[in-house]
Amino acid sequence: MEIAGRVAVVTGAASGIGLALAERFVAEGMSVVLADVEQGALERASSRLADGGARVLGVRCDVGDPADVARLRDRTVDAFGTVHVLCNNAGVAAGRPSVKTRPELWRWIVDVNLLGVAYGIHAFAPLMIAQGEGHVVNTASEAGLAASGLLGPYHATKYAVVGLSESLSLELAGTGVGVSCLCPELVDTKIFESTRNAPASLGLPPPAQIPMAQIEQLMSSKALRPADVAERVVDAIRANRFWIITHEISLRRLKQRNEDLEAGRNPRPPVQP
Ligand SMILES: NC(=O)c1ccc[n+]([C@@H]2O[C@H](COP(=O)([O-])OP(=O)(O)OC[C@H]3O[C@@H](n4cnc5c(N)ncnc54)[C@H](O)[C@@H]3O)[C@@H](O)[C@H]2O)c1
Repeated sequence: MEIAGRVAVVTGAASGIGLALAERFVAEGMSVVLADVEQGALERASSRLADGGARVLGVRCDVGDPADVARLRDRTVDAFGTVHVLCNNAGVAAGRPSVKTRPELWRWIVDVNLLGVAYGIHAFAPLMIAQGEGHVVNTASEAGLAASGLLGPYHATKYAVVGLSESLSLELAGTGVGVSCLCPELVDTKIFESTRNAPASLGLPPPAQIPMAQIEQLMSSKALRPADVAERVVDAIRANRFWIITHEISLRRLKQRNEDLEAGRNPRPPVQP
């Protein structure tokens, strides 16, 4: 699919991978709707792009609220007439191991990471099907292909997004609407500061109280740049490629998982680079 002159919607667009996607789509000549729950960061990102001459609209939207996502679709259609590319990208990684995750925390993570994707598909895909053209990019994670013993709820939602995306790709075959599933390993973003957007009722510690030095070290030494992820996403949309795997190690981890599954072996910790 050619993207210049078309309309993209990106959720989680005020930071990290979503912001890099918005910037790249603007550079490719698209009109872009930036959606995010973090109002201040969203306004700063949208104004910066608009000041540079881009056709952008910032819409505050909590993807875990289906009414908000329906409003996002309506605002998009009012501003730009339709949508061609939808990136269901917003996500949070403030989970604990499953044993330590309270029901309310499960609910938040599932609402954002899984139901946010589902609501995006429900609101936008019918427009794309009706026009016989479009592309949906769902941000899952390597954590949706192979599990570690940490972050059980995060793995659960990301495995779910992979399954949902695979199914959607089959469901939409022949409609002109393509689907991609983005499964990065580590990318240099604010994902480990996700509690900044948690409902206050959860009583989670703000990022300032989380020891960040080790994470920052990891991010600066090992993580991929968001702009590099955005480049692969654009390539995948153009080529109508489903899998967007950004790190070679992810394929090795998936291979180990599949071999264990085939041999009837129990899960092992993921292969290290
Ligand atoms: N950074 C990584 O290493 C990595 C790896 C694999 C997958 N991912 C996935 O990439 C996606 C983007 O995350 P990121 O790494 O750029 O992190 P980030 O924290 O920098 O960006 C996430 C954005 O999502 C927004 N957001 C959070 N909750 C929201 C909600 N309810 N509604 C709307 N917006 C909301 C945040 O405000 C933020 O702007 C997530 O789905 C994440 O799980 C990240």
